[in-house]
Amino acid sequence: MRGFRSLKLSLRFVIPLVVALGLLALAVVPLVDKLTLRWSVRDMDIRSRLITSTLQDPLQELMTLENRQKINNLLLRATKDERLLALGFCNKELKLIYRTPLFPAEISCSSANENNRKSLHLITLPQGPVHLSVNAIEQNGTQIGSLVLVHDMSYMVRRSADTRNYVILLFIVLGVVISLITVFVAHLSWQGWMEGVRAMLRGEGIIKPFAQPAIESELQPLVGDLKTLLRSLDAERRLADDSTITWSPDTLRKLLHKQLTGEKIIVVSNREPYIHSIKDGEIQVHRPASGLVTAVEPVMRACSGTWIAHGSGNADRETVDAHDRVMVPPDMPEYNLRRIWMSEEEEKGYYYGFANEGLWPLCHIAHVRPVFRTSDWEQYVRINQRFADAVVKEADSDNPVVLVQDYHFALLPGMIRKALPKSTIITFWHIPWPNPESFGICPWREELLKGMLGSTILGFHTPYHCKNFLETVDRYLETRIEHESSTISCRGQLTMVESYPISIQWPPPWQGELPPVEQTKAEILAELGLPSDYLLGVGVDRMDYTKGILERFNAVERMLELHPELVGRFSFIQIAAPSRSVLEEYRAFEARLYALEKRINERFSRDGRKAIILKAEHHEPDQVNRYYRAAQVCMVTSLHDGMNLVAKEYIAARDDERGVLVLSQFTGAANELYEALIVNPYHVEQTAEALYQGLTMPEYEQQERMRSMRAQVRDFNVYRWAGRMLLDAARVRQREKLAARIGRES
Ligand code: F6P
Repeated sequence: MRGFRSLKLSLRFVIPLVVALGLLALAVVPLVDKLTLRWSVRDMDIRSRLITSTLQDPLQELMTLENRQKINNLLLRATKDERLLALGFCNKELKLIYRTPLFPAEISCSSANENNRKSLHLITLPQGPVHLSVNAIEQNGTQIGSLVLVHDMSYMVRRSADTRNYVILLFIVLGVVISLITVFVAHLSWQGWMEGVRAMLRGEGIIKPFAQPAIESELQPLVGDLKTLLRSLDAERRLADDSTITWSPDTLRKLLHKQLTGEKIIVVSNREPYIHSIKDGEIQVHRPASGLVTAVEPVMRACSGTWIAHGSGNADRETVDAHDRVMVPPDMPEYNLRRIWMSEEEEKGYYYGFANEGLWPLCHIAHVRPVFRTSDWEQYVRINQRFADAVVKEADSDNPVVLVQDYHFALLPGMIRKALPKSTIITFWHIPWPNPESFGICPWREELLKGMLGSTILGFHTPYHCKNFLETVDRYLETRIEHESSTISCRGQLTMVESYPISIQWPPPWQGELPPVEQTKAEILAELGLPSDYLLGVGVDRMDYTKGILERFNAVERMLELHPELVGRFSFIQIAAPSRSVLEEYRAFEARLYALEKRINERFSRDGRKAIILKAEHHEPDQVNRYYRAAQVCMVTSLHDGMNLVAKEYIAARDDERGVLVLSQFTGAANELYEALIVNPYHVEQTAEALYQGLTMPEYEQQERMRSMRAQVRDFNVYRWAGRMLLDAARVRQREKLAARIGRES
């Protein structure tokens, strides 16, 4: 198709060229004919004079002797020359007194003389064209007659025809050669142009290491203008999206329908949204404590499609069909959950080992050393490939939209890209991205980066993480980075690196269905055996060293030291979901947490009322929500966190517009929730003071702050998070389609 397009273009040049060459040939051929004729006649003139001068002496002698026989013989011998047709001798009275046998009867001495006088040497006789020449024969300086030489000129007709043919052939060859060169040059230029335009549509710069300089310079001004135009259109569209759309499940559904022509979405994550397990002999289902699941699940319900995840529950196999699929949510099925199985050894290497002993501490600045083992890496590669194969099986087209989640799948985008080159891969990295030096300690850093660059779009929570990623790629891979458009071009694949701050479902699932906050608080206090005017703080986390739970407990302790009037009037409830307890680091952390809780409670418990209530067990989302509503202060003190959705969940739970959020400055959420009390969790006094400020904050101030934060979470909800990524993906797909069309037609 591409060749055809440049051929079409070339024909526009070649056809006029052929016509012009034809016309030129028509003009040139008679000219060449004329010239050939003139040269031949001149040749014959010279030849005739030469023959005459050769015959002059013997003829003069024989004339004197009047030896008629010998004269005839002399003339006859002379005509042995193949071109000399005939000779005749005219006397002074213009009488033909000698003639060779072939002398044409049509020629007389007077007609020959007349023609000679008029320089008409070429005449046509019935037997063909002849050259006629009349030259004087002298004797002692006096003309005694003239020799008439008749040359056969039929050879000239043949030569003229040959010349004409050669000239025509020359023009044909010339035409063909010029056409071929034209087609070739046009093809190259067209390809160069198209490459340039395609690269530009993909958002790449036009200058390539091996590109032809002529093409670059031709395109450069145009590319600059087009890029600016596309960028401003994108910016305008983004702005319009941001300011006009109220993001809801419905907006997301419409977006999918309109912009992605109803594409089926495939989500891939390690953690599954619903876990089936056997408890008391019965199969039960529960939701895991995972920010990822909290965010992606409502999106999936809105979009439908398939979610591929590790089947980790002990009753998971019993609840799937023959294709390892189960429809979820269990009470109102809306999408497919496709479970992937792995052996204990595989899980140990891929999940506990490489993902959680390697990448997790590598990406979080929590002062825990990453551990990298080759055996773990091998399992990580193997499991990534297993998920990639599942994506290929679940895809019902060659260009599916795949949403890859988190650090468990750094290699997956590259593997999917290899199997389904036309797929749109949106990868979201839910944890922070460290600086290049920190990331550089990973022995498989290049492999991980290359894998991630299989993505069409690579999302992080904050612009800072994006910047770190771009710098890391710049440090360790040979790529081209365009900072202006935040894109990386690696081996022909373009990846857009963008920040998409994750969020939660809004409105919250139980909006309008819950008892009033006061009632919930009263119930919780009653359950805990605490008086009604009692103050509660809450923390909700997985049992993880990055969450700053020890620092939080230290702050509670310090606050009680500094404000003893609150001893016996305040308890801090810590919900800590058991997590990764197979790992030594996590078990050690858990032990330290219990020890600290014990020590603080020994110091500050009064009348059986504990200062810290540690609930180290799994809680379903609706249970957690009750604690959010009952607590005056929620503490999020992560040492490093991609976003932290607990902060946003607390805000969503407080429809009474009361409650205070104490928030670590090292969370992504601190970039959005300015009305929280922002703290450095490593600064124990500052954190303790913020806790105290929260517990004693006047209601109007609580309301001001909470109202503003609720508006933020409402407007920047999880549908917007997913919607913005899908919109960007739709734009990329549009550009790719356009580029492919140009490619096809060129
Ligand atoms: O923070 C990143 C994240 O993927 C969260 O979304 C989730 O809370 C956690 O890590 C994963 O935990 P788990 O290892 O239990 O799946």
